[in-house]
Amino acid sequence: MSKSEKLVVYPGTFDPITNGHLSILTRALKVFDKLIIAISNNPQKAPLFTMEERIFMIREVLKDQPNVEIDSFDGLLVDYVVKKKTNVVIRGLRAMSDFEYEFQMALMNRKLNREVQSIFLMTDYKWFYTSSTIIKEAASLGGDISGLVPAIVAKMLRKKFGYEE
Ligand code: COA
Repeated sequence: MSKSEKLVVYPGTFDPITNGHLSILTRALKVFDKLIIAISNNPQKAPLFTMEERIFMIREVLKDQPNVEIDSFDGLLVDYVVKKKTNVVIRGLRAMSDFEYEFQMALMNRKLNREVQSIFLMTDYKWFYTSSTIIKEAASLGGDISGLVPAIVAKMLRKKFGYEE
């Protein structure tokens, strides 16, 4: 990356990636030149999909998007951001309920490293009330979640819950 290119890290669990995440990513790329999707390797979250599965789905969805790198990280986000030679993190905000959690996280990151800035983009109203958890719950009961996630993710969810070979 050349020195003048603006790079941003988009961290999350992405278990799995949803259309809401994609809308944040698309808008972030209108402001930044390059984006790294940084998938947190946090076993405490007990993800439904393995890291490999999450990477596979994101790679499939973004295969025609040259300005996006997909990576995973352990440990502190701020350390990862510095390692990637940038100082900006992007997060999406949905309803007010996200605010407290995001504010807490941004303040903690700021305490850990004052150079790292958190930038928030508002999630499109269409995705205000979706989340990976609620999508997984609907999918686990055989509900139709197409339109909320990319086709490959819907397929992987159906497979995971035994609705498709
Ligand atoms: N539209 C719809 N839904 C969205 C969304 C959007 N634009 N953005 C997020 N979501 C949903 C996700 O589906 C997910 O739903 P779920 O909670 O039901 O699974 C939820 O919001 C948050 O998921 P995600 O965006 O993947 O982020 P996260 O909150 O799981 O990620 C990290 C948190 C990884 C950024 C944070 O834990 C971290 O930085 N960890 C590293 C350790 C560290 O540095 N800790 C100290 C700092 S606090």
